[in-house]
Amino acid sequence: MEARISKFVINGGKLLKGAIDISGAKNAAMKMIAASILTQEEVRLENVPKILDVIKLAEILQKMGAKIEFQNHTLKIDTTNLRSEEPDPELVGAMRASVVLIGPLLARFGKVNFSHPGGDKIGSRPIDRHIQAFRDLGVEVTEDNHGYTFRQGRGTGTKTRFDKITWTGTENLLLFAAGRNQTTTIDNIALEPEVFNLIDLLEKMGAKIQATGRTAVITGSSQLSGATAKCIGDRLEAATFAIMAAIAGEGITLNHIEPAHLEALWEKFREIGIKFEKKDDSVYIERPSKLRPTTISTAEYPGFITDSQPPMGLLLTQAEGESYIRENIFENRLGYLKELQKMGARIEILDNHQAKIFGPTKLAGADLQSLDLRAGATLLIAGLIANGQTSIEGAENIDRGYENIEERLSILGADIKRVA
Ligand code: EPU
Repeated sequence: MEARISKFVINGGKLLKGAIDISGAKNAAMKMIAASILTQEEVRLENVPKILDVIKLAEILQKMGAKIEFQNHTLKIDTTNLRSEEPDPELVGAMRASVVLIGPLLARFGKVNFSHPGGDKIGSRPIDRHIQAFRDLGVEVTEDNHGYTFRQGRGTGTKTRFDKITWTGTENLLLFAAGRNQTTTIDNIALEPEVFNLIDLLEKMGAKIQATGRTAVITGSSQLSGATAKCIGDRLEAATFAIMAAIAGEGITLNHIEPAHLEALWEKFREIGIKFEKKDDSVYIERPSKLRPTTISTAEYPGFITDSQPPMGLLLTQAEGESYIRENIFENRLGYLKELQKMGARIEILDNHQAKIFGPTKLAGADLQSLDLRAGATLLIAGLIANGQTSIEGAENIDRGYENIEERLSILGADIKRVA
């Protein structure tokens, strides 16, 4: 699968109906792929989404000597012949999530050179919290113009605490701790469900991990074994489609999800007046005749997730009255609002973190730019509810995290096509 430079063209105004299967979680799969570095036996991952980010991460490992097979959403990884070399700087630069390779590479080889992962359009995204934690655990970290060198020092720190919570930082350090022959305590960890999906895999591989509140105690081993694990359903994809269903759906069922992972979203849905019905592993959602305005303030899990802030911002353009958004996690995640303004949305952007949205406004089709993964998916849904035609440049941003989105939405009745 190559990055296809293309755009989406959508003819809006069609109501959607039917069922959609939610993919395995991107943000679980990426870290579970990194875990395969910790063993010289096969790791078999099921329910892995076929999306650009996963393909690129697998490519980084392949370039370093790993054997990888990817069929029908099952990924088999054998890192027996992995070479101790720098992960491809170009691929690392294109995909920030690749930072989770640092922990397992360091545990396995004792030293890693890693180019700067770079920021992206949602913020500068430094890795200082990861670095501080590695240092606490006895790792020497140096930086030059090209990037970082991480080296297991002589000291062996056994305890660290994140001053501020970091999701991938937590996973990076869990991966490192699971691969070394000692017990490590990590405090103030992230509690995202994907973190626990990774912990399950590491336990199956032989690490002992006790997570109590925000503290994890990990007894690792340099002799972890192979294992099979299944990625949980992608709650970020599910939230995107749930919000789509709430503004464009005549009745949509989302399958293969864990409704409990989306409690903060359901709470907002109740407040806004959206009808939904949860089952064991699915949710049915219908568009109500009237949406109420609300306030969204993003937070770490179990709070309202920053990734669902853009589609929720779109939904609020359809609510009756004044809504308020506060983005607390990233410095620059309101850029999509300017694109919605081009469609006629009435929005006052107060600063990089806050905006007021006034609704309801009938949106008009426009030529738009997909800025990043979640913003791109948001504009695509905006196109579905707008009058007339919308084109969205940068479809590859959306392909990073949503598998075959145009085919899956077409089945629900959307008029959407990809053009080169
Ligand atoms: N931060 C620092 N220093 C650090 C680490 C983080 O300043 O060392 C800052 C970040 O710049 C950001 C905030 O702290 O402003 C939160 O960062 P965190 O480390 O928690 O985020 P992340 O791990 O880089 C993950 C997801 C993101 C998701 C955020 C939500 C993956 C691969 N990425 O990013 O998902 O938005 O958590 O907290 O798990 C996506 O899927 O498109 C995506 C961006």
